[in-house]
Amino acid sequence: MPLQIAVARERLLGERRVALIPETAKKFAALGAAIGIERNVGVDSHFLDSDYAGVRVAGGIQATYTGADLILRVTPPLPEEIAAMPDGAVLIALLKPFESKERLAALNAKQITAFALELLPRISRAQSMDALSSQGACSGYQCGLIAAARCTKFFPMLTTAAGTVRPARVLVIGAGVAGLQAIATCKRLGAMVEAYDVRAAAKEQIESLGAKFVDTGVSADGAGGYARELTADEKAQQAEKLAKAVAAADVVIATAAIPGKKAPVIITADMVARMKYGALIVDMAAESGGNCALTQPGEHVVANDVNIHGPLNLPSRMPTHASELYAKNLYNFLSPWIKDGRLQFDWSDEVLAGTVLCRDGITVHTTVKQVLGAV
Ligand code: NAI
Repeated sequence: MPLQIAVARERLLGERRVALIPETAKKFAALGAAIGIERNVGVDSHFLDSDYAGVRVAGGIQATYTGADLILRVTPPLPEEIAAMPDGAVLIALLKPFESKERLAALNAKQITAFALELLPRISRAQSMDALSSQGACSGYQCGLIAAARCTKFFPMLTTAAGTVRPARVLVIGAGVAGLQAIATCKRLGAMVEAYDVRAAAKEQIESLGAKFVDTGVSADGAGGYARELTADEKAQQAEKLAKAVAAADVVIATAAIPGKKAPVIITADMVARMKYGALIVDMAAESGGNCALTQPGEHVVANDVNIHGPLNLPSRMPTHASELYAKNLYNFLSPWIKDGRLQFDWSDEVLAGTVLCRDGITVHTTVKQVLGAV
């Protein structure tokens, strides 16, 4: 029997992406895999069932997952979706590995080998598989667009017959993949952009995009190329220096994150109180609590005439390209291990070993075990 790949519709509310696009379906088939999709699997990303050549189309989750060896998803599975998975299947998704012990226990009870793409090592060789980067780029771009659409000023300087308007001032906090894309998007629209990050490497990247680096004197490089959590003293120093830049901004785009932890609160209520009337905060970190103390995830709140947006699932607002990039990340991750139409993993591989969350009925990822305890 050839490798059976199955892709069901995403059931999480508001999720419009899909883990398999017609192009990657064709490539998996060329490696000898047989593919089954649930009816209308890609319709929200504007891929029709008829675009997926040579795949089996099933009605409902149970029919889609029956006999599957490899399940591709965007979001973590709901309990009823785990129940529909065959025992011992391989699952790959953005699994939110630190979110739920119950989900891990349910996957382990079915002996599912689960890969969480959030855990992928950020090394050069794995760049083509890096879903956090591909989806982060979508999120950052969307933040820039939300900011421009909601700002009550032009982003560019404009010289008109009625007079000249000054460009909007944008401050981007957190210059990882998403933050850099937000900077690039705001620059393309003509805004005056400043940005800040605690990682030393960020300064050069910010400046290479034509933005000004805000120097708070706080540097906090952590393990794996990520930032570490700041100490109380560092937080105080950061707040003091950053407050001035926040007060001067028309728009603040906040993207700061620490993997596996709640987002750091960087914009305090006091800082919001000192912002310009009519200013705007787009808090991309809303999903993990928010970089602004007043952010309500998924909501738009107004405080002291400052508009604070906490948008969720930004890549899903541009599902066609977000799915295209995500599906290619999955293909690049999996294709080296499909040989003669079968999955054959080499567990000594650094990328595989770093990304696997659970296997043979136990949670194997060290950091996840440290955070959630043994599951
Ligand atoms: P992330 O989503 O985990 O965090 C976003 C940004 O917030 C990071 O730049 C982080 O330094 C910053 N941050 C955290 N705490 C902060 C604070 N208190 N104040 C201000 N900023 C704060 O990061 P992302 O975008 O996933 O990237 C993480 C790292 O991985 C970056 O160094 C990036 O360059 C690197 N990377 C490496 C790749 C590779 O293949 N070599 C591929 C993609 C990313």
